[in-house]
Amino acid sequence: MIYPVVWNEDRVALIDQNRLPREYTQVEIRRSDDMAVAIKTMIVRGAPAIGVAAAYGMYLGSQEIDTRDRNAFLERLEAIGQMLRETRPTAVNLFWAIDRMLRVASETPGTVEQIRKTLLETAHQINREDLETCQSIGDFGLSSLPKHPEKLRLLTHCNAGALATAGYGTALGVVRSAWQAERLERLYADETRPRLQGAKLTAWECVQDGIPITVIADGMAAHCMQQGMVDAVVVGADRIAANGDTANKIGTYSLALVAKAHNIPFFVAAPRSTVDLSLSEGSQIPIEERDPVEIYQIGNTRLVPAGADFYNPAFDVTPAHLITGIVTEVGTFTPDRLQEAFQDDASIVSSL
Ligand code: MRU
Repeated sequence: MIYPVVWNEDRVALIDQNRLPREYTQVEIRRSDDMAVAIKTMIVRGAPAIGVAAAYGMYLGSQEIDTRDRNAFLERLEAIGQMLRETRPTAVNLFWAIDRMLRVASETPGTVEQIRKTLLETAHQINREDLETCQSIGDFGLSSLPKHPEKLRLLTHCNAGALATAGYGTALGVVRSAWQAERLERLYADETRPRLQGAKLTAWECVQDGIPITVIADGMAAHCMQQGMVDAVVVGADRIAANGDTANKIGTYSLALVAKAHNIPFFVAAPRSTVDLSLSEGSQIPIEERDPVEIYQIGNTRLVPAGADFYNPAFDVTPAHLITGIVTEVGTFTPDRLQEAFQDDASIVSSL
């Protein structure tokens, strides 16, 4: 199993996702500001994984606060939360995890030391819960996939695998469950320009597990669907609004449009912590814009002549009407049923 975020005595070991698949290395994080840098620079990435990483970042931050005064401690913990919030804007799991850590801190009675202890336990719990959640998403996803043909050809975008979660994955969790149930013929993975999470990370995970994978350039997905090579699309999510509109890696929206045009089911797989009921629709989801260097350069080689301008949104929003089903750890819902399913869930907290 691949675990991207592992607690190790007094520090966090993160798989350095910027070095895969060339090199498997772990980066040790001992301070909250280093965790913020790791999230921002995508050493750790993927919505649930950055939530888990931020939770440990909050605990590391709690160790840096040098006071026994409870109120002063909570105030400084809030500031550490703010620093971590400012790393990436789109995936709501980041805010969800920070809010949960802050809530636990303020609700824990007793000394600062007792609060620190509870914070570490909560970070472990967020990590464990996400792993269990992904396994349930895999099961529900498998039962929601088309019944025919027996062996499915699935297509995914970006990396929503073990690396993007506590382990197992959301969209790739569904793929893993289909593979284990002998219902998968092949996974097609968009390479996912500009950061190439599909080509580098999804392909790496599948090769590790022996899952047959074909990597295609993003612009080839429509052709593959037209040629009858794809039975269903499964992607992850960074934030899902109350009406089911879904933000995910840039390129997801065009995939959904093409799937609709070819009558191919389009599934979003995500935990409840990705659902943001405070936003009524997808247009309210903040979309991260990243450094244009990701577009004009590959490695150290500049591809585009100086003088051109660039636009580099990291995510797009797929409208709910293009989504066949949203697979969560408690079942698969059509987008219009999402709000009703989750509105009474007190564990769902989000803020910007
Ligand atoms: O920019 P990234 O690599 O963090 O984007 C990741 C994605 O868009 C994933 O598809 C999403 O977070 C779901 S991960 C289970």
